Amino acid sequence: MVINKGREAFRIYKNVFDNFTIQTILKFMSRKYIDGLIGPIMIGKEANIFLAEKGDLKVVMKIYRLQSCNFNTMYGYLKSDPRYVNLKKQRRKVIFKWVQREFRNLKKSNKIINAPKPYSFLNNVLLMEYIGDENPAPQLKDKYPKNPKKFYDEIITFAKKMYEAGLVHADLSEYNILNFNESPVFIDMSQSTSITDYLADDYLKRDINIISNFFIKNGLEVDVDASIKRISD
Ligand SMILES: Nc1ncnc2c1ncn2[C@@H]1O[C@H](COP(=O)(O)OP(=O)(O)OP(=O)(O)O)[C@@H](O)[C@H]1O
Ligand SMILES: [Mg+2]
Repeated sequence: MVINKGREAFRIYKNVFDNFTIQTILKFMSRKYIDGLIGPIMIGKEANIFLAEKGDLKVVMKIYRLQSCNFNTMYGYLKSDPRYVNLKKQRRKVIFKWVQREFRNLKKSNKIINAPKPYSFLNNVLLMEYIGDENPAPQLKDKYPKNPKKFYDEIITFAKKMYEAGLVHADLSEYNILNFNESPVFIDMSQSTSITDYLADDYLKRDINIISNFFIKNGLEVDVDASIKRISD
């Protein structure tokens, strides 16, 4: 008898999802985006990150929790993005737009910097490229680069490329950058916003301060103002 691992795992983990989310995952299966689940990678603040499979390919499934995520904060972030000015303040609507925004931001960014390729989204669930080998790539906070200066410069170059494409990450940190074989990969882009957002330049400054401070704390000499200038000039 051939047992599909992914479908077995789906049965096991099904209990951790609400009914609506189960229906959404089943739609991804019937539309052949995934065959089944492998298991959890990380239980995040707002979302649970699961590994799924499609044939031999690993796929990351980011599932925003419908009940316990802070949709007031999400709404606040969305409202200043010109792409979402007309959004109504209703929990599900806000969460679904939050997922759609992450999909759009990843799609744009994946073409110009190291970022996971988004495959699809529906309701509160986003499917994207898995970054890693046998194990998921570690967060920068857990794997300091061997060549910090080169890594830091690459981060600033990525932020500049995003800016040139009209985006600011807006939640950049040692948590939301993976160190994949000594190259940075930007993740977690639901907060990323348009440079025409009236708060965009404040977010950019905050991003570069946070990530620069991480490197400074670890002993690298960094000129924060010069980095910000390099990105936005
Ligand atoms: N595409 C991916 N490939 C490998 N690992 C990933 C991927 N996406 C996320 N992860 C892992 O899961 C963790 C949490 O993901 P992410 O930062 O997107 O969610 P989060 O912090 O819970 O989101 P939010 O900040 O919106 O609440 C990441 O730090 C990373 O370790
Ligand atoms: Mg994160």
